[in-house]
Formats: sequence, C-alpha cells, structure tokens
Amino acid sequence: MKNIIFLGAPGSGKGTHTNMLVNQFGYITISTGDLLRNITAGNTELGQKIKNIMVSGELVSDEIMLELIEKELESIEGKPFILDGFPRNLAQAEALSTLLGKKNIDYQAIYLDVLENTCKERIVGRLVCKCGKPYNLFTPDLRPKKDGICDVCGSALIKRDDDNEESFKKRYEVFIKNTEPIKVYYEELGKLKIIDANQTETRTRNDIHEEIIGVIND
Ligand code: AP5
Ligand code: MG
Repeated sequence: MKNIIFLGAPGSGKGTHTNMLVNQFGYITISTGDLLRNITAGNTELGQKIKNIMVSGELVSDEIMLELIEKELESIEGKPFILDGFPRNLAQAEALSTLLGKKNIDYQAIYLDVLENTCKERIVGRLVCKCGKPYNLFTPDLRPKKDGICDVCGSALIKRDDDNEESFKKRYEVFIKNTEPIKVYYEELGKLKIIDANQTETRTRNDIHEEIIGVIND
C-alpha cells in the first residue's frame, strides 16, 4: 500500500476519501486539521491563538505545523499513512520531502479536483463526528439516520467553527494561492495524480474511491 498525500480545496473530500480508505485498508490518518482542532479543544493560550487563525481561514505557522507533523510521523513507526491537509504550501512540501527522505519513505500525492461552488455547498452542509465520519445535510445518502447523531458511534455531530461561507471564502483563496506551487513541485517529482472528485449522477463517491485505489495500486 502506498502512503498517500491528499491535496485539495476545503470540501474537496480529503477527509471523506481518507475515511473510506482507512475503513478498507487500515491506513493511519494524519489529519493536520484534526490535530489542530484537538489543540484548540484544550483551553490554552496557544489553543485560542490557533482557533482564531483557523476561523479566519488563514494557515497556522509552518513552525507549529512542522513540529506537529514530525512528531506524528515518528509515532506511527513506519505504518502506512494518509496525510490529509499537509503540506499546504511549498515550504511545507519541501520540509516534508526532507523528513520522508531521511526515513526513506515513498508516497503518492493525489489532488482531488472539485469545482469551487461544489466545495462551498459541501462545506456549508457538513457535520462531522469525532470518530472521523463526515456527514452532509445536502446530500441524501450522507445525512445521519437520526438527526444530529453519528450512525457509527452514536456521538453528537458537530458543526465546525470554520464551516460558514465567510471562512470558506478565505480558506479557498488561501488554498488557490498556495496550492499551484505544490502541484508543480510534485508534478516535477513525478509524484502527482489528479482525480476528478466531483460527484455526479453517473459518477458516485464509490467510483471516485475506486479510481483512487487504482492510483495507489499502480
Ligand atoms: P482542514 O481541517 O484540513 O480543512 P480543509 O483543508 O479546509 O478541508 P476540509 O476538512 O474542510 O474539507 P475536506 O477536503 O476534508 O472535505 P470533506 O471530506 O470533509 O484545515 C482546517 C484549518 O486548519 C485550515 O484552514 C488551517 O487554518 C489549518 N491547517 C490545517 N492544516 C494546516 C497546515 N498543514 N498548515 C497550516 N495550517 C493548517 O467533505 C466535505 C463535505 O462534503 C462533507 O460533508 C462530506 O460528507 C461531503 N462530501 C465529500 N465527498 C463528497 C462527494 N463526493 N459528494 C458529495 N458530498 C461529498
Ligand atoms: Mg477535512
């Protein structure tokens, strides 16, 4: 199983496809958004600072992110992993290459390509569970069976503080500005695959998932 780096806009489905791959193959997830949300849950000064940055839609500093990612990569002890939300800019991509290079770890970068308006709709309708299962109020087969309750673990579903139109607008802007250089970087390394992750009547979420599996089995 190839290690995976998911790249994609807010709402492109990084978390959703990570969740599907974890359930099928037992990957370890390293989601920098979730790691940061864990920090903001504790009522510390650093947590409050990070929370404000996340709600504003800007990126948390590379210094904090690199420390987090280095610790996580250490803790998984060489098991297959999916990086969801890292790297977010060229400096992070280069630092990651150094880290992985030192450990001789190979990977596949996958860019989930989704239209901006679709991303926005997905974000506004999203509810999340602490177990990782994402839901969406606007997509019939992604609604919870019981209002506000996770089908899998029974916990209360949460609306993220940054899941509103204003935060999305900024997050998307930040994404567009920083992602092109990362795409070029991985393309030049021969490590990039782009997947159309727009769900349509003839292209289901499972079709997208199967295409991703095709890439990691290649
Ligand atoms: P993060 O938590 O990573 O958020 P994001 O990148 O904005 O991405 P999202 O989690 O919003 O979207 P997703 O692609 O996971 O979509 P999902 O699968 O849930 O980061 C949050 C913040 O943390 C950043 O803004 C930044 O401040 C900070 N941060 C994180 N990493 C950082 C880093 N490396 N450096 C600096 N700062 C960092 O899907 C969305 C919705 O759509 C769900 O409801 C889902 O059910 C639905 N859906 C998914 N797929 C489909 C489909 N095919 N059809 C229909 N609906 C679908
Ligand atoms: Mg996510």
